[in-house]
Amino acid sequence: MEKIKELLLQALSSATSLDALEKIRIDFLGRKGSITTLAKNADFSKMSVEEKKGFGQKLNELKTFATAKLVEMQERLQASAPRRKSNELDLTAPGKGRRLGALHPITLAQMELEDIFQGMGFSVVYGPEIESEYFCFEALNIPHDHPARDMQDTFWLKNQLILRTHTSANQVRTLLRFGAPIRAIFPGRCFRYESIDPSHENTFYQCEGLVVDKNISVANLIAVMKTILSQVFKRDVKVRLRPGYFPFVEPGFELDLNCLICGGKGCPTCGDGWIELIPCGLIHPEVLRHAGIDPKEYSGFAFGVGLTRLAMMKFGIRDIRYLNCGDLRVNEQFSVLA
Ligand code: PHE
Repeated sequence: MEKIKELLLQALSSATSLDALEKIRIDFLGRKGSITTLAKNADFSKMSVEEKKGFGQKLNELKTFATAKLVEMQERLQASAPRRKSNELDLTAPGKGRRLGALHPITLAQMELEDIFQGMGFSVVYGPEIESEYFCFEALNIPHDHPARDMQDTFWLKNQLILRTHTSANQVRTLLRFGAPIRAIFPGRCFRYESIDPSHENTFYQCEGLVVDKNISVANLIAVMKTILSQVFKRDVKVRLRPGYFPFVEPGFELDLNCLICGGKGCPTCGDGWIELIPCGLIHPEVLRHAGIDPKEYSGFAFGVGLTRLAMMKFGIRDIRYLNCGDLRVNEQFSVLA
């Protein structure tokens, strides 16, 4: 035991690292270490009771001594190991990664629509969000006392100014500016005095479209709508027209999309197989007259895509309130789909 103690002290005095120390621990106290082996190989049968007791005591002392010395050395080595100061620059540390900006799902849907329409020869025109009562209502064949004004609860500002309730406000504004013939879309933000729930917002986006030319008919309207929707949803789509009432179109329609989820059989999303998607119609002669265009010479169609609704369908967003909540995590999950 004395010899083992001597060897241990010798080994410890030359240990310069924690790894070396661990090796020493194994050499002496490990399963096959010299102290362990000593205890295992002792032949107790040749010892008297007194001898057994003395041997056991000495062995325990040796173990305690070895453990204490090892711990002492470990503390000394740890204290002298080079340690990084907290403010020191570590050039090998991995980078922190930068948060990239992401476009809003409505922006993505709008950019895609603009691309598709531009590909079909449409111009993109942006009108003001603060609009006159005239362009938003009067010019669209909705006089003061017309019940249709109740259809759209309006935010009123001063001096007959309002927050536009629909992008149709751009129709006469744009026709006065560019005249006929014309093909244009007007994407933008609209406002209505409404209480908010999963499918209603007081602030939402529409994308209005307008074609005025000679001999424009409902057939042109259907063809353009079908082409656009096939490109948006990246497959062939079926549409149907139902009568719909808007004072600025005659005849007016609701264009329904054959449900892309159930293929028209009927499901919880669509109900009867059709999704009401785009109000539209042939431009009312009165609207053309307001724009200084002769309805005998020109005709046209107009449609109002619910851009917010389209983005929700395209990206599978179930609650409209996510779109205006300002949480960047909303944006970040859709940008890659652009
Ligand atoms: N402006 C109408 C609305 O917001 C939609 C519409 C647009 C209807 C164009 C017909 C033609 O409800």
